[in-house]
Amino acid sequence: MSAATPLKIGVAGLGTVGAGVLKLLNQQARQLAQRCGRPLIVTAVSARDRNRDRGVDLTGVRWYEDAAQLAADPDLDVVVELIGGSDGIAKRTVEAALARGRHVVTANKALLAHHGADLALAAEERGLTLAYEAAVAGGIPAIKGLREGLAANALRAVHGILNGTCNYILTEMRTTGREFAEVLADAQRLGYAEADPSFDIDGIDAAHKLAVLTGVAFGCKVDFNAVHVEGIRHITALDIQYADELGYRIRLLGIARATDRGIEQRVHPCMVPIGSPIGATDGVFNAVVADGDFVDKVVLVGRGAGAGPTASAVVADLVDIARGRATPTFGIPAAQLVPLQAAPIDRRRGRYYVRLMVLDRPGVIADIAAALRDQNVSMEAFLQRGRAPGEAVPVVLTTHDTEEAAMQRALSVIGSLDAVLEPPRMIRIEDF
Ligand code: HSE
Repeated sequence: MSAATPLKIGVAGLGTVGAGVLKLLNQQARQLAQRCGRPLIVTAVSARDRNRDRGVDLTGVRWYEDAAQLAADPDLDVVVELIGGSDGIAKRTVEAALARGRHVVTANKALLAHHGADLALAAEERGLTLAYEAAVAGGIPAIKGLREGLAANALRAVHGILNGTCNYILTEMRTTGREFAEVLADAQRLGYAEADPSFDIDGIDAAHKLAVLTGVAFGCKVDFNAVHVEGIRHITALDIQYADELGYRIRLLGIARATDRGIEQRVHPCMVPIGSPIGATDGVFNAVVADGDFVDKVVLVGRGAGAGPTASAVVADLVDIARGRATPTFGIPAAQLVPLQAAPIDRRRGRYYVRLMVLDRPGVIADIAAALRDQNVSMEAFLQRGRAPGEAVPVVLTTHDTEEAAMQRALSVIGSLDAVLEPPRMIRIEDF
């Protein structure tokens, strides 16, 4: 191959990100050609609607309505899959591209979370690259950061804010004092949240990304089903206000950690210290923190979504391919990835925040304290404000380190008390 042989790229999916990739490749063409020693050229695209104005010039570019047909185009080096979804046409396109000997770049976290290990094997058996920097935390180089930058370390943990929509909602709730449903409706009106926002707010999107990060961090097969997932629907403005008073921010975090029982993978709301890097990351931003045995903690913060940041990550993968730089998909050869040994959440040890709505009458707090004592849960702080005899008042407590299973048993007893009027709200405290 001569130094100037172009890298011929097919882009499947011309939505916001697809159009962003085309714009970036066009705008930075000279710089990219210089960095790669060869031009990066889009020669084929696929999308459903040919007539939509995407603000990009497609003159001379081969057009396919079916992405799987694009993958079979005889004159491509790389297929960029930007369709989305764990199965269906996205999976068929990636499989077809690999079967035809094309490298693949994808932003599809759902596909990787469900089929990452199999697809990595399919790529590596053929000597191809399956690259996916854009699938996790958008523009943040989280995959390269862990897999290449921290390759010398045994990672102890990786955690972070992996969903910008949730972080935006939680930040707005704190700064405006409004409730979840109202802020979500606003986010939808502004186009930040999808019409069906369940993947974002129920934690699924973050869990997809965490499962992929876990594979990279610990050299195991991606195992989405082993992620414990809770979303943010139940977070209230009151809890956010109490968190603030106690010195915490509430964040939806993805956490993967090596323990002596296996690897913990969980996505759920957490309270984190206000001054920590995660606590200081507001709005639509994502943050990824890796903890390595030699390097200690490394923090990456940036935009996790949007045309520009996502295109930046997609094109970084194209640059690697154009330069002929190949790295095993998940850091070690796919054939050597081991099944993930999952540590169950009920063995988590840590602190807890609990908020109750209780009838203001004598003896209630004694009953709550007894339920905690019976499970050997030690209280750290206790807060009851105001006085409303015979009416509902909020009671807040935090615990010292305790095991999740004991906390859950105590909460079940507390929730069954007559004077406790709503299911207890529990948020795990993470002292990162
Ligand atoms: N919907 C995601 C988020 C971005 O809100 O962060 C794409 O993964």
